[in-house]
Amino acid sequence: MRSMEDMSILVTGGGSGIGADCASRFCDLGAKVTISGRRLEKLEQVQAQIGERCCIVQGDVTLAEDRQRMLDTCLAHGGGKLDALVNNAANMYRQPVDQYTEAFLRDAFETNVISAMMLSSAAIPHLQETTGAIVFIGSTHTKRAFPGASPYATTKAALEGLTKVMAAELGPRQIRVGCILPGAVSTELNLRAGLFSAEEASARYDAVAGLHALGRIGTGTEVAEGVEYLIRAEWVTGVALEVDGGIGLGVSHF
Ligand SMILES: NC(=O)c1ccc[n+]([C@@H]2O[C@H](COP(=O)([O-])OP(=O)(O)OC[C@H]3O[C@@H](n4cnc5c(N)ncnc54)[C@H](OP(=O)(O)O)[C@@H]3O)[C@@H](O)[C@H]2O)c1
Repeated sequence: MRSMEDMSILVTGGGSGIGADCASRFCDLGAKVTISGRRLEKLEQVQAQIGERCCIVQGDVTLAEDRQRMLDTCLAHGGGKLDALVNNAANMYRQPVDQYTEAFLRDAFETNVISAMMLSSAAIPHLQETTGAIVFIGSTHTKRAFPGASPYATTKAALEGLTKVMAAELGPRQIRVGCILPGAVSTELNLRAGLFSAEEASARYDAVAGLHALGRIGTGTEVAEGVEYLIRAEWVTGVALEVDGGIGLGVSHF
C-alpha cells in the first residue's frame, strides 16, 4: 500500500459530511488536502478543526473556471503535484417518476456526474505524473430501490459505469479509478435538498438502520477509510467498493 504521507489530494464538497471526514483522515495520515465547496464558512470551519495541512477553495463544481481554480489551488498547496482526486460533491435529487421536470434532471446530472467527469478529465495530466488515483462517491442507491429517488440513483449509477471505462482507459497510464458505494451516513445531504426537517431526517436514519446487515448506519470516517483504500491500493482499479454496513445485500427475512 502506498503511504499517504505528503500526498496532495483534492476533495470536492469537503466542507461537510463525508468529504470533511475524508479531509480530516487524510491529513491525519500526513497528506496535504484541499477541500472545495460553495459555502466558505463551512470550509473555514473544517480548516479550523484540521489545521494547516488543509487548504480551502470556494467554488461551484458546475462552473469550469471554479473547477480549474480548485485544481490550481490544490497543486499550489501540494507542492505542484496531485496524487488523488476525490469527486465527493453532490446533491440529493428526489422526484417521483410521473412528475419529472427537465431542469431538475439536468441539474442532477450537471452537478453529480458531468462536473465530476470534467474535473477528472482536467486532473489526468497531473495524476499521470504521480501515477495517482480518481475516486468517485457513488451510493447504495444503485443496490437498493428507494422510491422517489430515481434522479439521484441514476446519477450514481452513471458514476459506476464511468468508473469502469475510465479505469480501462487510464490503466495504461498507471492512473487508478474507483468508486465507493456508501450506505446511510447522517449528514446534511437530505437537509440541504430541503426534503426533511432535522427531526424527520433523524427518524429516517433510525428507520433505515435496520436495513443494514450490521444493524446501524455508518460514519463519515468509515466511508473515508474506504476512499483511503482506493487511493493507497496499487493493484486495485475499476472497482465499486461497497462501504455500507451490508445494506447493499438487500437482506430479507422471509
Ligand atoms: N450521507 C449518505 O448517507 C450518503 C450515502 C451514499 C452516498 N453519499 C454521497 O456522499 C457524498 C458526500 O455527501 P454527504 O452525505 O457528506 O453530504 P453533504 O454533507 O451534503 O456533502 C456534500 C457536499 O457537496 C457540496 N456541493 C454540493 N453541490 C456542490 C456544487 N455545485 N459545487 C461545489 N460543492 C457542492 C456541498 O457543499 P456546498 O453546498 O457548500 O457547495 C456539501 O459540502 C455525496 O456524493 C453523496 O451523494 C452519501
